[in-house]
Amino acid sequence: MTTPLRILSVVGARPNFMKIAPLARAIDTHNASDPERPIEHVLLHTGQHYDAAMSASFFDALGIPEPDIDLGIGSGSHAEQVGRTMMAFESVVRDHKPDWIIVVGDVNATCACSITAKKEHVQLAHIEAGLRSFDLDMPEEINRMVCDRLSDRLFVTDELAAANLRAEGVPEDKIRLVGNVMIDTLDANLAKAKTLDISEIIHRNAIHESSAFCLPGSALDSYALMTLHRPSNVDKPDVLGSLVAFFTQTVCRDMPLIWTLHPRTRERLVSFGLWDKVANCDGLWLVNPLGYHDLLRLNMDARVFFTDSGGLQEECCVLGTPCVTLRFNTERPVTLVEHDGVSTLVGNDLTRISETYHSSLALQRRPHRPPLWDGHTAERIVADLDGRVRPRN
Ligand code: UD1
Repeated sequence: MTTPLRILSVVGARPNFMKIAPLARAIDTHNASDPERPIEHVLLHTGQHYDAAMSASFFDALGIPEPDIDLGIGSGSHAEQVGRTMMAFESVVRDHKPDWIIVVGDVNATCACSITAKKEHVQLAHIEAGLRSFDLDMPEEINRMVCDRLSDRLFVTDELAAANLRAEGVPEDKIRLVGNVMIDTLDANLAKAKTLDISEIIHRNAIHESSAFCLPGSALDSYALMTLHRPSNVDKPDVLGSLVAFFTQTVCRDMPLIWTLHPRTRERLVSFGLWDKVANCDGLWLVNPLGYHDLLRLNMDARVFFTDSGGLQEECCVLGTPCVTLRFNTERPVTLVEHDGVSTLVGNDLTRISETYHSSLALQRRPHRPPLWDGHTAERIVADLDGRVRPRN
């Protein structure tokens, strides 16, 4: 038997969990089908997200194995999160001596563990490499740049991401166009999501302080969906206040709006004195952070999705949900209407938001899959890494 290839993979925050689930599954499948070339997989959670609704519920729902190691890093400033993660991760790397460290996405855990991996001379692979918003005000952009610069293997979702890497001088032999692991997870979970009842999801997750909870019995034929968490949208009282005014005075008069609240956003609504306004608005349904299947189910039938999340732009693209993206730029241009996707960038400009919202009401659902967004990306990643089995000293 070959010496097992030892892979240590890292997750830290909510958007990482959907990316690691298919990788863990693909490694298990590989080990079952090729026991002569086993892969040893150590899963590490940095603990950046720790609330059950932001973390544990995703492990259960997506069938991700319990993390072998939990660093318990928790909240803090970026420097605190990155610093604490690097300090704790260093000794893990020394103990486990992996052949590869795999990081996903662009959160603080991704950046911190990339730096430590390279300082410990371990090969580093980045899943979802090459995405660029070209906006250094976003912490995620800094995380992506640092991680990609240090990575030995860069797994990209699409040709635009590969082109970004080439423009930065990344050698061709490090880049692998493999598709999108997020869509592996979406495909694997569509059937289960379809069995869920929309009204039941809303009732089960409702924030009961809201007095506007006169929900329909079962038939809910038209609704809008929203998630917001980026500092550019939620950290300034005037910006968040004008967004709230638009949603309560325009969208909620047309159709119910389901707003799933990130902890940061909820905290800001309260501290900016906006809570009563949203909690008492007819047709605005506030819900806690949703589990993976619940949000997927709501997305499948939403008339329009307002979001500032990158991952949701991708899910809307594949499901065909018109996506009004409250950002001025995106690191995922492949999801934009100009590339046959469904997402339109509107920033937090109320005129653009309103125009795009109204024109999206006339649109039919238009699902689109970029090349290799076929549900088999993680298998391609495992096959690629497995091709590099080497004896350990
Ligand atoms: C992080 C990611 C972002 C991702 C988002 C999705 C970085 C730089 N950003 O941003 O890319 O889109 O997650 O959720 O890594 N909090 C809780 N409970 C939790 C986690 C966080 O209450 O389980 C609170 C924290 O106290 C903190 C706030 O939410 O004040 C923000 O959390 P943090 O992880 O710092 O960043 P996010 O804004 O979630």
